[in-house]
Amino acid sequence: MVDLKTQYKKIELEVDEAIKEVITTSNFINGRAVKEFASDLENYLSVKHVIPCGNGTDALQIALMALNLKPGDEILTSTFTFIATAEVIALLGLTPVFVDVDPDNFNISIDEIRKNITSKTKVIIPVHLYGQCANMEEITKIAKEKGLIIIEDTAQAIGSNYKFKDGSTKSAGTIGDIGTTSFFPSKNLGCYGDGGAIFTDNDELAEQMKMITNHGSRIKYNHEIVGVNSRLDSIQAAILKIKLPLLDSYCSSRRKSALLYSKLLADVSWIKTPLIEDYSEHVFHQYTLQIKNGKRDELKEFLDSKNISSMVYYPIPLHKQKVFKKDINNDDYPVSNLLESNVLSLPIHTELTEETINYIVKTIKQFK
Ligand SMILES: Cc1ncc(COP(=O)(O)O)c(C=O)c1O
Repeated sequence: MVDLKTQYKKIELEVDEAIKEVITTSNFINGRAVKEFASDLENYLSVKHVIPCGNGTDALQIALMALNLKPGDEILTSTFTFIATAEVIALLGLTPVFVDVDPDNFNISIDEIRKNITSKTKVIIPVHLYGQCANMEEITKIAKEKGLIIIEDTAQAIGSNYKFKDGSTKSAGTIGDIGTTSFFPSKNLGCYGDGGAIFTDNDELAEQMKMITNHGSRIKYNHEIVGVNSRLDSIQAAILKIKLPLLDSYCSSRRKSALLYSKLLADVSWIKTPLIEDYSEHVFHQYTLQIKNGKRDELKEFLDSKNISSMVYYPIPLHKQKVFKKDINNDDYPVSNLLESNVLSLPIHTELTEETINYIVKTIKQFK
């Protein structure tokens, strides 16, 4: 699905040198590279605070821990996504409330958000799935009306810009109160291990989240609140510092591949290609089709037999996961229940060639 080796080969010398510098200076923990990368990312996103941490799951947990929520408080999030978002909600004794998604853009449905708000709702966590932002203008409107906090899960959409109706733009992850991301190797901005970050313009939340990442401490051996140990490794930060200036070109090459796939697949009646909303730049972390002839699994097997990778993101929505499913009515999620059986993601990455895309599409067209 990705080709991280070829991508590395193009930056090999700089990356190797940066890793060596961390090792030779023994600046392994919270070294210069971490501070420099955080500052570079603040500039890139035009956000006041970037707080690096251990991974994208920790980023979500730390964001929620900073909000002084209490057990039973309800957090709305998409049911059609990776487990991390809901897992940390449950881990903190909060109540995940799953919301169905929009059938065209796979993101949290605005109507369904409205339906699921109760007096206990405190936070909305939209997940910008596959590289395209949820409808943040509407989500922000609802949050203002109801006094809710927004945490944007930007693990799949870093590098995307959101366009408001008045023409102004903001980076994905900087529209709500807090944004979180993951630097998992296959992400659009990926390191060579685990990594994550939290973004905010709010000084108080930033101070709180910084403390939480560091055992609840501002001053060594003084612990004010319960925290965690969640740090971005200096070696990973050094690698990310080299890759960040390349993020826009990484996103455009993904977009170029996606547009070519969509153009070549436009005449296949049983395939629905991804919709690009006017309000969000799509950075195509995934290129995800809907297979409308009921033969998604057969197509996947056919592609496997021709050595073409494809993946189902996500085969089981969160409301059907064993860990959460009690007291949840499956019928409340008609869109996700359909998507689990018809989505199929094709390879998409920075090194994909036109020739490979042509070959993949030609093979798909041979499928009966
Ligand atoms: C939407 C989303 N949120 C959170 C995460 C968790 O990130 P990490 O693997 O860095 O903990 C992921 C990772 O795949 C993700 O896709």
